[in-house]
Amino acid sequence: MVNAYETFPHLLAPLKIGNVMFRNRIFASPISSAEIVIDGQPALQAVMYHERKAMGGAAVITYGEVDTDPADYREGRYPREVTRRSNYNYARLSSMVTRQGAVASLELCFSGAFARMYTGGGDVNPAWGPVDMTMAMGWKVKAMTEERIQEVIEGFAQAALAGKQAGYDMVCLHGSHGFGLQQFMSPTMNTRTDQWGGSTENRCRFPVEIIKAIKRLCGQDYPVEIRISGSEVLESGFGIDEGIRIAQQLDGVADIIHVSVSALDRFNAESFSRTHLSMFYPHGFNVQYAAEIKKHVKKSLVGTVGGLSDPYLMEEILATGKADIVYMARGLVCDPDIPNKIRQGRPEDIRKCLRCLTCFSAGVGHGDLVCAINPEIGRETEVHYALPPHEKHRVLVIGGGISGMQAALSANKLGHDVILCEKSGELGGKILCEKDVPFKVNLHAYIMQQAALIAKSNIDLRLNTEVTPEYAEKEKADTIIAAVGSSPIIPKIPGVDGKNVYQATDVFSDPSLVKGKKVVILGAGFVGTELAIYLKSEFGVECEIVEMLGMISTGGNSTHGSAVRDMIAQNDVPIHFNTKALEISSSGVKCQGPDGEVTYSSDAVILAVGMSPLQEEAVKFHKCAKDFYMIGECRKAANILFATSSAYSAAKLIGRYC
Ligand SMILES: Cc1cc2nc3c(=O)[nH]c(=O)nc-3n(C[C@H](O)[C@H](O)[C@H](O)COP(=O)(O)O)c2cc1C
Ligand code: SF4
Repeated sequence: MVNAYETFPHLLAPLKIGNVMFRNRIFASPISSAEIVIDGQPALQAVMYHERKAMGGAAVITYGEVDTDPADYREGRYPREVTRRSNYNYARLSSMVTRQGAVASLELCFSGAFARMYTGGGDVNPAWGPVDMTMAMGWKVKAMTEERIQEVIEGFAQAALAGKQAGYDMVCLHGSHGFGLQQFMSPTMNTRTDQWGGSTENRCRFPVEIIKAIKRLCGQDYPVEIRISGSEVLESGFGIDEGIRIAQQLDGVADIIHVSVSALDRFNAESFSRTHLSMFYPHGFNVQYAAEIKKHVKKSLVGTVGGLSDPYLMEEILATGKADIVYMARGLVCDPDIPNKIRQGRPEDIRKCLRCLTCFSAGVGHGDLVCAINPEIGRETEVHYALPPHEKHRVLVIGGGISGMQAALSANKLGHDVILCEKSGELGGKILCEKDVPFKVNLHAYIMQQAALIAKSNIDLRLNTEVTPEYAEKEKADTIIAAVGSSPIIPKIPGVDGKNVYQATDVFSDPSLVKGKKVVILGAGFVGTELAIYLKSEFGVECEIVEMLGMISTGGNSTHGSAVRDMIAQNDVPIHFNTKALEISSSGVKCQGPDGEVTYSSDAVILAVGMSPLQEEAVKFHKCAKDFYMIGECRKAANILFATSSAYSAAKLIGRYC
C-alpha cells in the first residue's frame, strides 16, 4: 500500500473542461466493441462491457469508431449509426457509464479511403478520400468534391448532436491510425490544390471545420477531443515536425489533442506495431510524440497513449509535463480497475497488459472482445446475471501453471475449498522459462501476481507434489480439475537426438546453451520466432528459421503475428518458408526447400515445432472424483487466453447444474 495522493497526485487530479468534470487524468482510449447489432447499435454485451470499465474508476469511457457518413460502409457491422432514433443502446451505454461516475464519450469516425476496406469498391461504388487513388489492396478511392466535404462536416456535427442528446458528455474525433481525417491532414496522401490541401493549414481545415461545426451545434463548451498521429512512423509518411504543425492548427480548436502514432493505410507491420505498441517496444515508447507536441501547444490539453499500464510511469509523464492526460486501451481491458487500484494506493495489485494482442485479433478476426489474462472482460452478461446456486465442493486442482492457478483462484473466490498441487517447487509452469525475456516482463509479473494472490488466499497449496490417481482418490475431492499441461513435440527427423539439438523451452531458460553459436530453429510459430528475436537482440546469436508452411504460424493472433514480423525484419532473421527439415547433423540441417535440397549450416539446432497436450496424463484422474474437468494445455495446446478462460469457466461450473 502507498499513500495514493502523495504518490500519484497528478494522475488523481480532477479536471474540468467546459461544464464537464473528469474525476482524474486516466482516460480509456477507444476500443471498438465488435458487438454491433445489425442496425448499427452496440449490443447489450457491449453496453455492459463499457459499464464495467467505468466501474473501474477511469475518468472517460469512449465508445469507438461511430461512423458519421452514410456512404461510409466498411462491412456488415457498419455503419454504427448514432443518429437513427431507434438506436436506444447508445443512450443505454452512456447512461450506464455515467451512473458509474465516468464521462461517456463517443468516437466519431470518417473512414474516407478505408470505407471499402472489407467490401471492395469499384468505379460505381468507390470510397471517398482526399484524392483519386487506388489503395494497395485494390479498391478505388474518389477525390471528395466540395459538396461531399460539406456533407461529411455536417454528418459529424449531426452525429455529435445525436450523441449529446443520447447522454455523451464529449466526443472524440478519430484523426489518427490512417482514418479519413488523417488522410486529409497527411501531406503525402493529401495532394489537393484547393483550400483543403497544400499547406498544413489547408490540410487541417477539414477537422478544424468539423470541430467548429460540432461546437456550433452542441455548444462552445461541449468538449471535443481529436486523436492525431504525432508521427506517421513510415518512410513515406510525415514525422514529428509535421505532427507539431498539425497540432498547432488544432490548438485551441479542440479541447484535447490526443497523440497516437502511425498511418495504417500504407499498412506495414512496423506501423501497426507502433500504433498498438507491441511487447517488443519499451513501455511508454510513444510518449515522446506527445511530449514534443506538448512543448508547442498552448491552449489545448495534450494526451498520450500506447503501451501504458505502469502507474509510476504514468505519474511521471504527467508530473514532468510530457502530457496532461494518460490514455489506456488494452491496459483497461486487462485490468479495468487500474484507476481504482491507484486511488486506493494498491499499485502492486495492478494486472499489467501483456501486449500480446489477443484482444485485437479476436476483435477483428471474429468480432469478439476477450483478454488473454482477464477471463471476465467481454463476458459481463455472464458475470452479472445470476447463475443457479452452487454446492460447496472440495476441489483438487492438479498442476500449478497458468491454467491451474486461475482455476484455483476462481474456485476459491466462489467459496469452494481448494487444494492446488504442483509437482515442481514453484508455481507458473512451463512459461517460467521465459522469465528473463525482456519483452515478456509483464507476463512474468502476471505469474508472480497470481502466485502472490494464491499465497494470500486460503488455498491449500502443495508444491513438490506429484499427484497420482491414488493420491487424488485419497483426497476425496468432489471435483478434480486437471491442468497438467503439455510437452514439446519431438519431430521424427534423423539426428534429432544429437547433442547439438535443444528444445526451445530449454534455450529460453538458458540462452548460454547457444551463445556464440550459429543456430537453426525448426518452426516459425510464436515460440520459434520470439526465441530468434530474443537470441539475436539480446545476445547477438545468428539464427535462421526453417518452416514447413508458407508463413509464420500465428495460432489466430494475426496482429501479434504482425508485431513479430516487424521484429524479425528489424533483427534481420531469415525464415525459410515451405521448407522441410530432412536430417540434422553436427554441422547443419539438410532440408527440402521450394528449389530442392539445401543444407543450412549450424552449430546448434532448436526445436520449436509445437506442444502436445498431456491428455492421457489428465484423463487418468477422471474417475477420482464425482466431477472432472480438463483445462488449459492438457486439453488443447492453444494460448494463454484458452488457459485462463477454460480455467475460469470450469471453476464457475463447479457444483452447479447437477
Ligand atoms: C481491440 C482494440 C480495438 C481498438 N479499437 C479502436 C477504436 O475503435 N478506435 C480507436 O481510435 N482506436 C482503437 N484502438 C486503439 C487504441 O485506442 C489505442 O490507441 C492502442 O491500442 C494503443 O493503446 P494501448 O497500448 O493502451 O492499447 C483499439 C485497440 C484495440 C487493442
Ligand atoms: S489480450 Fe493481451 S494485449 Fe489484449 S488486453 Fe489482454 S493482455 Fe493486453
